[in-house]
Amino acid sequence: MTPEERIQQLRIEINHHLYRYHVLDSPIISDAEYDALYHELQALEAEHPELVTPNSPTQRAGAPPSDAFRKVAHPTPILSLMNAFDAEDLLAWRTRIGRLLPEEVDLDYVVEPKLDGLTVVLTYREGRFVLGATRGNGIVGEDVTVNLRTLRSVPKRIPVNPGSTLAVPDYLVVRGEVFIPLDKFEELNTERAAAGEAIYMNPRNTAAGSLRQLDPSKTAERPLRLYCYDIVAAEGGAIPMNQWERLAYLQELGFPVSPDNRQCRDLETVIATYNDWISRRDRINYEVDGAVVKINDRQIADSLGFVGKDPRGAIAMKFPAREKTTRLIDLQVNVGRTGVLAPNAVLEPIEIGGVIVRNATLHNFDEIARKDIRIGDRVLVKRAGDVIPYIVGPITEARDGSERPIEPPTHCPFCGESVVQLPGEVAIYCENASCPAQLIRRVEYFVSRGAMDITTFGTQTAELLYQKGLIHDVADIYTLRKEDLLELEGFKDKKVDNLLTGIEASKERPADRLLTALGIRFVGNVVASLLIQALGSIDVIATASQEELEQIDGIGPQTALSIKVWFENEHNQTVIAKLRAASLNFSTGREISLSGSSTLRGLTFVITGTLPTMSRDEAATLIAQHGGKVSGSVSKKTDYLVAGEAAGSKLAKATELGITIIDEAGLKRLMADE
Ligand code: IVH
Repeated sequence: MTPEERIQQLRIEINHHLYRYHVLDSPIISDAEYDALYHELQALEAEHPELVTPNSPTQRAGAPPSDAFRKVAHPTPILSLMNAFDAEDLLAWRTRIGRLLPEEVDLDYVVEPKLDGLTVVLTYREGRFVLGATRGNGIVGEDVTVNLRTLRSVPKRIPVNPGSTLAVPDYLVVRGEVFIPLDKFEELNTERAAAGEAIYMNPRNTAAGSLRQLDPSKTAERPLRLYCYDIVAAEGGAIPMNQWERLAYLQELGFPVSPDNRQCRDLETVIATYNDWISRRDRINYEVDGAVVKINDRQIADSLGFVGKDPRGAIAMKFPAREKTTRLIDLQVNVGRTGVLAPNAVLEPIEIGGVIVRNATLHNFDEIARKDIRIGDRVLVKRAGDVIPYIVGPITEARDGSERPIEPPTHCPFCGESVVQLPGEVAIYCENASCPAQLIRRVEYFVSRGAMDITTFGTQTAELLYQKGLIHDVADIYTLRKEDLLELEGFKDKKVDNLLTGIEASKERPADRLLTALGIRFVGNVVASLLIQALGSIDVIATASQEELEQIDGIGPQTALSIKVWFENEHNQTVIAKLRAASLNFSTGREISLSGSSTLRGLTFVITGTLPTMSRDEAATLIAQHGGKVSGSVSKKTDYLVAGEAAGSKLAKATELGITIIDEAGLKRLMADE
């Protein structure tokens, strides 16, 4: 192959991967493999400058924006950064730029984490957020303003602090990176796995997908965060011309900036910071793939110009890659508390970034089939922070024919019952309510932090108690006796006392925690408190019809059905009876009787302003007690607006839509059916 042909081939390949990464949010090769292709192209083009074209990926950044969003041109192109892989590369960079600078300049630097998220460009006019765009191809991005508005960390007005006297340019464009913190990513996946939904591959692609939702309410549900690191345009006002002060200024305006940014007086300090981050990498709660080293004096930095599309005034010091290949030896199937069968990879142990990795998640069986992962394959494994490592994909070129395809299980590996796959879901379930694996997982969940929070109850405790026949369901936790526990291996007097004290204390947890702890599908913390707020007690929830449940704001048909099915199950009814006998909190004390009056059945209310004799919550409770529904916002579906003192925009909207407006007295008359 001639260099020209290879260059052509590399460009096609690179463009394809850029498209997969930036537009589809679904890369099929690792960052390291991408870098290798890119560097090969760069090197070939350096040898044959006559073959460089303006359309080569080395001359452009990113990939074309998608068609689903309006396109917006960035005020200044989003460029990329030169890479350094160690201290030596960094010093070489300093020598190169030194040749372009007067002899005696003394440079200082700002070191920022290189966040592995998505670049966003936020535009403010007269202090108001007017436009938010993705990176796109670096020149033209996508207008995702409505989605970005749902992020709490994106200031809607600056300065955020209303008391601030800080001057703000009339036109200000800020750049930053949107990402999902690693702990939030874990939580999200735990919830999804429990609900039988497909779990997400990695934080970056999840953040990208979340930001590019066509429905902003979907974006709002995801734990997206923002850190800002630059001002790329300003008119009608001055901005600091030194990076460190610029970051401080951004922060004063109310933009979130990374708490890990450092000012460094020389390159020695820069290198020390870089090494420090590498050693602390596992404790940083977001994905960082390196350190961005910037010349603090922006005038000097800008005066240095560019090499290709890389500015000379900054450089990215990459961290060692955390992707490696190893052999997939076997597949283990775990069963979650809702019965979801989760495939887990058993790997030939391999060290990745100082940790020996033996297991990795394989998401679900659909994913295994889609990627055609086989037992015996060499697979690419990626580790980010303390998140469980995952398999990026198989290295198909390394196959020798001995690999075995993976068949989805037909039976539960723990209880042997046959499994089911529900229509429209990727998860495979074991539906046997007395499956031991499920029971142990349910007990673990019941005692966990977000549920009954029994900290003295460890994971092994659940397994041990089950094996010894001391628990058959979660309610048995409350009938454990000291003398039985003392018989268990490793359970001394003190340990047993601690366990029993912890169990006793958990009886005080409020009803919504107990409801969460029951582990009903789709009923996590948030849904549980919605339900308890609306209906006041677990007993009312248990007897509510599916329609009544669906009337509650935030409860959809799927959740309502799942609740209904759970409480109708005989085994679950026994558990409830036993929990009641243990005197746990089933009620908030303000129960709502569904069998009571139904004078408001089928009517939707919105409450606004201050009512004369009751709080809005009390009014909402009363409306629910009479069979009505309360919604948070006025729409065509609203039947009545209950307006009190100082009612504002909702009153205006209701008037505009011609909705009947009543006061507290009017509401009482309706309830009394007068
Ligand atoms: S400054 C001329 N600072 O890295 C480009 N970039 O490879 C100046 N990034 O497009 C970029 N964290 O997506 C800068 N603290 C940081 C960054 C950062 C992440 C990303 C950004 C940029 C890419 C450059």
